[in-house]
Amino acid sequence: MKTLVINIKQLVQVEDTPCSCKAGKDMARVGIIPDAYLLVEDEKIAGFGKMEDLNRESIYANGDTIKEIDASGRLVLPSYCDSHTHLVYAGSREIEYIDKIRGLSYEEIAKRGGGILNSAERIRHASEEELFQSAYERIQEIAGFGTGAVEIKSGYGLDTESELKMLKVIRRLKAETPLLIKSTFLGAHAVPAEYKGRQTEYVDLIINEMIPTIAGEELADYIDVFCDKGFFTVEDTDRILNAGMKYGMRAKIHANELDYSGGVQVGVKYNAISVDHLEYIGEEEISALLGSETMPTVLPGAAFFLNMPYSPVRKMIEAGLPVALASDYNPGSSPSGNMKFVMSLGCINYKMLPEEVINATTLNSAYAMGVQEEAGSIAVGKLANFYITSPLPGIEYIPYAYTANIVEATFLRGKQY
Ligand code: NIG
Ligand code: FE
Repeated sequence: MKTLVINIKQLVQVEDTPCSCKAGKDMARVGIIPDAYLLVEDEKIAGFGKMEDLNRESIYANGDTIKEIDASGRLVLPSYCDSHTHLVYAGSREIEYIDKIRGLSYEEIAKRGGGILNSAERIRHASEEELFQSAYERIQEIAGFGTGAVEIKSGYGLDTESELKMLKVIRRLKAETPLLIKSTFLGAHAVPAEYKGRQTEYVDLIINEMIPTIAGEELADYIDVFCDKGFFTVEDTDRILNAGMKYGMRAKIHANELDYSGGVQVGVKYNAISVDHLEYIGEEEISALLGSETMPTVLPGAAFFLNMPYSPVRKMIEAGLPVALASDYNPGSSPSGNMKFVMSLGCINYKMLPEEVINATTLNSAYAMGVQEEAGSIAVGKLANFYITSPLPGIEYIPYAYTANIVEATFLRGKQY
């Protein structure tokens, strides 16, 4: 089965030789072909180029049926890779939203049994089927916004059975949706109520029971820890990442959201695939990241929603680092998985250029979830995960029109979704 998209006004994020990610000044460079075509064969991208170079004879050579789509006036972009979400959850938390409006801080809400523990209570009472259905709807929602790959964390179970329940839901989403999905075990998201005052014992439970069980059932690609003030210490994180590594789970952690927590440094020590949030980043964190294989990942939706200080993204880029952006879709700090809005926030609040936010939400976020060989750009051999926009002037319009839905058609694994 072949699909040929023709007359594309701009084919965006094309790569002849795919790179693993873009750092520093290169973040402002995006390959764009004006007046282009894109050829899809089965699940993959089979070719692309300028319309004037389109060789119809060779494409139609062996009598295949080919679906042609005229994209006049429209742009084609690779689907977003959303490398950090918590989109399996039960219930919403708008009451805490009101508490926040009234002035309570994230930490104060957490201390009162709200926040993550509130979601944990609800997850424990939800069936696997209920969780699957609501997460499936969220997957459909984000696919409609243009997302084609998503990382999803556990972390609202906080006991072995409930963490397994969440990870099984993610496994089922992997099997039953066309999105490229990676799963992350986040047992160390918060200390559950029944372990209050016994944090080390909870860390022991994660290490001695949860990790071996989850690894035994091959339920997690990555392991995460909320390494921050009031949550897990550097020492806890070190122990958990070390245990995860022994079972083949690479680190991918929450770090430096609430303070200079040492999270970035411990993440780099374990060669984390990414360290995420990064509101508190100074020279030490930047030098730890330089020369590492760890992708600094910023979550503009959470900082916006919680009114937190903004991560010094320009400083990181000017220091030569790559930066990825992700949605953090979750019921507490970012009840939105809209990656286009994340791009707008990147431009408005972090002073990123449209080219930089495109790289940060496609190529670099693909790297941050370990799918850069299959997704994140328009390159021959990668999965045909892309979207066609409505008619619009050019790439700059996408983050500029910050609430407009510009996705006209989405293709995942070569099929219209
Ligand atoms: O990434 N910071 C830690 N965890 C989530 C928040 C989860 C919640 O509040 O439910 C985050 O923002
Ligand atoms: Fe998160």
